[in-house]
Amino acid sequence: MPNQELHLTRLESEFERVLNEHAEGQHGERGSEKRNPAEEELRERARDRRFRQLLDALPAAVYTTDAAGRITFYNEAAAELWGCQPELGKSEWCGSWLLFWPDGTPLPHDECPMAVALKENRAIRGAEAVAERPDGIRVPFIPFPTPLHDASGKLVGAVNMLVDITDRKRAEDQQALLVRELHHRVKNMLATVQAIMGSTARASTTIEEFQQAFTGRIMALTRTHSSLAEDEWQAISIRNLLCNELEPYDDGSPCRVLLDGPAVELPSTTAISLGMAIHELTTNAVKYGALSVLGGSVAVSWALVEDQDHRELTIKWVERNGPAISSPTRKGFGSQLLERVLNNQIGAGTMISYEPDGLRAYIAIPLPYRVSESPPMNSLARR
Ligand SMILES: Nc1ncnc2c1ncn2[C@@H]1O[C@H](COP(=O)(O)OP(=O)(O)O)[C@@H](O)[C@H]1O
Ligand SMILES: [Mg+2]
Repeated sequence: MPNQELHLTRLESEFERVLNEHAEGQHGERGSEKRNPAEEELRERARDRRFRQLLDALPAAVYTTDAAGRITFYNEAAAELWGCQPELGKSEWCGSWLLFWPDGTPLPHDECPMAVALKENRAIRGAEAVAERPDGIRVPFIPFPTPLHDASGKLVGAVNMLVDITDRKRAEDQQALLVRELHHRVKNMLATVQAIMGSTARASTTIEEFQQAFTGRIMALTRTHSSLAEDEWQAISIRNLLCNELEPYDDGSPCRVLLDGPAVELPSTTAISLGMAIHELTTNAVKYGALSVLGGSVAVSWALVEDQDHRELTIKWVERNGPAISSPTRKGFGSQLLERVLNNQIGAGTMISYEPDGLRAYIAIPLPYRVSESPPMNSLARR
């Protein structure tokens, strides 16, 4: 924004001019012209007022000290950053209540960057500190303490500007958290893929069978992840999860696939495990159950049971008009996932019954109280 830049440049040169005037005025190096003391006093006050107005207009926290480090002026932005109004001429080095280094260790006021700038008579750059306000809020900031000299070069005080970096810090912390979370998820996902591969291999008799089942399972995981990635809150609806798996088998015949239930958002951990379970139920229905014959149907209904401190999603999977079935003699990956893994991973309870007219599955899943209240990617429980 060129306008704003111009404005800032003007402000800067004006600031410098007034600062010079101020220093000169304070130390009487005003050349040879003689003025009467009353007039001089008035001019001095006007200069001071102007100086203050200028600094108060700045959005950045600015304050000045005398050569001994006693605060002689601070603007409104500084008082806001400190959360208090230090006493002029008494408070030393910095008007903050308490100071810390970025790592949280206490920073005594007489060792703060402003104190070093004055004691060593040099501008300090690249420092960072944290101010604690009386209300307990901590504000990370970058100080720019700069010694001020009179015309003869004598140290007369210092000016400091404090730049609040709370937003930047928050963004950095959030990014670090996301990276940690990502590593954690990649590790989990690789472990899951390895487990799927082992179980699929044990349950397969030919390499083709293995390849087909393994690919199907990895694709199911991919679909759930894609849906999760589309949502800022890393949540996915139960309907979406079911559609992902069942839609390819809906041949359009009446009641082939029926879905019925309220909108429920699932956090990512629940979605990933439940997505795999739905994939196993679907492939079994396609291989052995209602979706293996023309006219067979799968009806999935769900409900949310909610009271003050407890939320539970109950899912009922009912197959009809399939081939006649009886209790199986073998248990493969699907049965194991439904009976054990689902319970271990998300604390779900399952019941499978092989009714003569089709399989029924009941799944009950505890849910966190509100999915949307957890920040993105934070809802993943450690496994
Ligand atoms: N929807 C279903 N309808 C009829 N039988 C089923 C159904 N789902 C599973 N079964 C029976 O349960 C057995 C175990 O299933 P599962 O554990 O998924 O292993 P796999 O699919 O490798 O056979 C199947 O072999 C089948 O006999
Ligand atoms: Mg199976």
